[in-house]
Amino acid sequence: MRSAIILAAGKGTRMKSELVKPMHCILGKPMVGHIIDNLKKTGVDRIVTVVGFSADAIISRYENECEFALQKEVNGTGSAVRSATQLENEKGYTLVVNGDCPLIQPETFEKMFAEAADVGMAVLSALLPEGKHYGRIVRDGNGEFERITEFKDCSEEEKKIREINTGIYIFDNELLFRYLPLLTNDNAQKEYYITDLVAIFKSKGHKVKAVLISDPEEAMGVNDRAELASAAKWLQRKINHRHMLEGVTLIDPENTWISPDVTIGRDTEIWPNTVIEGNCVIGENNRLRGANTLRNVTIGKGNDINNSEITDSVVDDGCQIGPYSRLRDGCHIHDNVRIGNFVEMKNTDFGEGSKCAHLTYVGDATVGKRCNFGCGTVTVNYDGSNKWHTSIGDDVFIGCNVNLIAPVSVADRSVLAAGTTITRDVEADEMAIGRVRQENKPGYGKKYLDKGRKIKEEKKKNGSE
Ligand code: UD1
Ligand code: CA
Repeated sequence: MRSAIILAAGKGTRMKSELVKPMHCILGKPMVGHIIDNLKKTGVDRIVTVVGFSADAIISRYENECEFALQKEVNGTGSAVRSATQLENEKGYTLVVNGDCPLIQPETFEKMFAEAADVGMAVLSALLPEGKHYGRIVRDGNGEFERITEFKDCSEEEKKIREINTGIYIFDNELLFRYLPLLTNDNAQKEYYITDLVAIFKSKGHKVKAVLISDPEEAMGVNDRAELASAAKWLQRKINHRHMLEGVTLIDPENTWISPDVTIGRDTEIWPNTVIEGNCVIGENNRLRGANTLRNVTIGKGNDINNSEITDSVVDDGCQIGPYSRLRDGCHIHDNVRIGNFVEMKNTDFGEGSKCAHLTYVGDATVGKRCNFGCGTVTVNYDGSNKWHTSIGDDVFIGCNVNLIAPVSVADRSVLAAGTTITRDVEADEMAIGRVRQENKPGYGKKYLDKGRKIKEEKKKNGSE
């Protein structure tokens, strides 16, 4: 049995934020989300997140992902672990992870489980050029792991130690819950430290080991915004490197931000300042030009997407999108579509080969194949209280500045004349025109302009008097 406890009850004072620390994002995903996902990849059976400050913010986001325990008094990492009472009677091994260590990779968690087999407790340690504010791994004369001393409790000599506690531990679960009640708060911060369990386990005759992590940066704890940025940078480089080795061109990897839950096919080329967040599947041979923002999208192959924002949508193959298009909330863009500048689409199924090149809003609509939208078309989907659907068949030609007042249906091969406001359904092969008939008044244009010029001249004369 594999269990895990994530410590996320602290406020994170040094973040200087209204938002509780574990909910601060790295590559668009809250830190605690990174930990939960990486634990799941390690096959952990039960994950308990300990919450305290702003518990609701964490619970509402992750209620379907893990269990929760409430730490009533936020008075130390040891007391936090003790709150996870639902694991009290479990057998097997339990990982404990600080909620502000978002970078630990599944392989490292796996390694901790492997190391646990012959000991009561193991601590993941790291060797740093400088120990900073981390707890120190104190060893005796024989180099044997003796205890962890928190920075605030360190002697000058102990402050020089460079091997530090990363805040990741593995325990024999039965022993963990047996010894937790022995913790005291007899220290500089008057807190119950999980780190004191090292000495307690040893005094009870159990083996405790410190397992050194190979890349200390993976274990970095995030305590302020500067460390948040460093952590994001580390993960960005790791992810981008992986994509490049798998055949994706990143023109400027330092300025491309791709979340961990993204797959990208070969020969896709990504230009600088693109941000890809959430769960995305991007196929082969796409060109993502300019600064695109993509979140929770599925993109097929051979698309050219330029300076656009696409969220929660699907784009099939061979489309040309942008510059400056916005597709959101449940769009499905079929093959070989063209969507141009300043076009917004929402909850729209846009058929194969259709075109919508400029300045248009299409919302709550179904559009067939090979349609053409003129500039300035609007599906008028909202009546102030409800949203309504617009249905457009195949091969429909829509002139410029057409409003379609939904709910309305326009059948195959119909033509909607420029400037028309469509309020009634249009049958197949019909043309709909609805606009005021034009009148031409001979000579009136000149008269009108002359009058204007005269007023302007008089104003000028009066000003110079
Ligand atoms: C902790 C370790 C330190 C280690 C460092 C690694 C202790 C006593 N110290 O210090 O040895 O080097 O992490 O990053 O554990 N939390 C709770 N409840 C509490 C207190 C904290 O859930 O009552 C959570 C916090 O939300 C945070 C994590 O535990 O996610 C660590 O707490 P933090 O205060 O950041 O500990 P450090 O001082 O960094
Ligand atoms: Ca910390």
